[in-house]
Amino acid sequence: MYVCLCQGVTDREIREAADNGISSMRQLGKELGVGRQCGRCACSAREILREARRPDYLALANMLAQPA
Ligand code: FES
Repeated sequence: MYVCLCQGVTDREIREAADNGISSMRQLGKELGVGRQCGRCACSAREILREARRPDYLALANMLAQPA
């Protein structure tokens, strides 16, 4: 799904950027141009970035539950 129409950036690209270490809207703007034109995408992009940076507690719990 397109998040930033001005720059043609999708939620997938934002998640990939987060996986590659992008952790702030400033960095996201520099890297992909998100939020740099009209700014309407900023709230959605911030939420996707925050969600992507959140630890996956279920995966972590499953990993810890594995016998050694
Ligand atoms: S929709 Fe992202 S800057 Fe306009």
